Amino acid sequence: MAMLGILTAAAVFLQTVSAASLGVVTTEGGKVKGKSIYLGLIRRMDVFKGIPFADIPGRFEKPKPHPGWDGILKTTEYRPRCLQLNLIQTDTRGSEDCLYLNIWVPHGSSVSTNLPVMVWIYGGGFLIGGSMGANFLDNYLYSGQEIADRGNVIVVTLGYRVGALGFLSTGDSDLPGNYGLWDQQAAIAWVHRNIKAFGGDPNNITLFGESAGGASVSFQTLTPHNKGLIKRAISQSGVGLCPWAINKNPRKFAEEVALKVNCPTNEKMAACLKMTDPEVLTMAGSLSMTSSPDSPLVYNLVLSPVVDGDFFPDEPGNLFHNAAEIDFIAGVNDMDGHLFTGLDVPSVNSHLVDTSIEDVKRLLGALTQEKGSLGLDNAYSTYSLDWGSSPSRETIKKTVVAIETDYIFLIPTQAALYLHSDHATTGRTYSYIFSEPNRMGGLIMPYPGWMGADHADDLQYVFGKPFTTPLGYWPRHRNLSRYIIAYWTNFAKTGDPNKGDMKVPATWPEFTSTGHQYLELHSKMDKNYVGQKLRMRFVHFWTSVLPNLPTIFSE
Ligand SMILES: *[C@@H]1O[C@H](CO)[C@@H](O)[C@H](O)[C@H]1NC(C)=O
Ligand SMILES: *[C@@H]1O[C@H](CO)[C@@H](O)[C@H](O)[C@H]1NC(C)=O
Repeated sequence: MAMLGILTAAAVFLQTVSAASLGVVTTEGGKVKGKSIYLGLIRRMDVFKGIPFADIPGRFEKPKPHPGWDGILKTTEYRPRCLQLNLIQTDTRGSEDCLYLNIWVPHGSSVSTNLPVMVWIYGGGFLIGGSMGANFLDNYLYSGQEIADRGNVIVVTLGYRVGALGFLSTGDSDLPGNYGLWDQQAAIAWVHRNIKAFGGDPNNITLFGESAGGASVSFQTLTPHNKGLIKRAISQSGVGLCPWAINKNPRKFAEEVALKVNCPTNEKMAACLKMTDPEVLTMAGSLSMTSSPDSPLVYNLVLSPVVDGDFFPDEPGNLFHNAAEIDFIAGVNDMDGHLFTGLDVPSVNSHLVDTSIEDVKRLLGALTQEKGSLGLDNAYSTYSLDWGSSPSRETIKKTVVAIETDYIFLIPTQAALYLHSDHATTGRTYSYIFSEPNRMGGLIMPYPGWMGADHADDLQYVFGKPFTTPLGYWPRHRNLSRYIIAYWTNFAKTGDPNKGDMKVPATWPEFTSTGHQYLELHSKMDKNYVGQKLRMRFVHFWTSVLPNLPTIFSE
């Protein structure tokens, strides 16, 4: 009898435990059923993969509402990523039918309600990328599971159009561009309308993203079309002010694409492009990867958003009033430009070959070309100021990486932080620099021993990879991952990265335009990793000295 009592109690207990799942969820389009997974004795998670947030998009059109479905849609498999080039631009992959999102919902002993929501926007230069499925074997970089579990937040990842199908534009109403940004916006609005049914708080939505995804996050806070939908935003290594984030002359590339697919470049161009096979269009949207110090790769990234008078009523720099109530974290990796520099000036990664001062000058000349020789002279003296009479080989190489890091990422990020804090009413502002050295530094090419954090090195820590693939990491990397997830998810809950459920290793002060405080994210970080006036001399040069020199050349 006693035995039976225990068994009954156990059965009741198990039933209570297994009840901590959403089961079938009703969305505006119809019912969906995901998968419930165990994370521990009383911890479970509902995972939904491939929920449609919009219909199959028309070519070069804004996304349209999904018509809905009958019955229960099984949402347990990733859908294809949006049609795009493969990494080496020799073929295409994915589908035009790609406007889906994925949701991770953690539960304790009872079903969650009112959880903060974090929406991830992937990067890839507006050319490639996806949130859908494995990136390498079983290792899905953008799985929301670790963040959702550790931070007790809902994580959403979305798909948006990239490449020619996402961003080709004539700069006028023929092909207005920004289709990929409209996809992101449609997904954000869908999350706002539907996340309550998944146990989320629609008034507690945080966007986060990296590189082109970081710039996208920034754009979504600047457009007037998200009013009231977003509470907070995190831009990692990319903001809307980055030189590659807006194409000022999109028609030029649209005409190049038209010629490649045998379309005329007159008033019939848009109609012809719309009728062209999507895979052919995608291939024609390949970007040139040839570069040199005189013509850095960053100038080749031309399939980007455009100021269209709709998504952007004005230049992004004039739209920060729209983000006045949004809490904002932005930051960069300390060698974010390394990936690009290695292509433009290959000698930086060589153990044998010096990088010449001539190459430093050629690169600076290209990046300041509008200002002629005066621009170059000023730039060169700014960057060589600390060199002394005979700079070491390593000093010169690191300077070249610093130049590209500054130009492509760091300076525009500082400019965005200033503008955000200047226009903020209730919104808070936080600045960081991520400096954990690349794990391959000094071990394999192209990572020299002096390597810091390269572009995208932050992603693995944000997504908890040191926990999911522990063999690839040291214990200090798990600490760093824990710290970043703590800051990010605390911020998603309270707007203050220091306050929330998770303990942090150092108090991160707010960025103000007088104190310019920032936090350095590193595995050994403590209160000594709080700094002020990040790279002030260089910020001053690019945002104040250079723009005030007379322009002698413009394209
Ligand atoms: C990880 O962090 C803990 C404190 O949170 C510290 O005691 C430990 O030494 C750190 N481990 C490494 C390898 O840095
Ligand atoms: C957001 O979520 C946190 C934690 O669940 C909660 O304390 C807060 O009141 C929520 N709402 C807003 C608007 O911050």
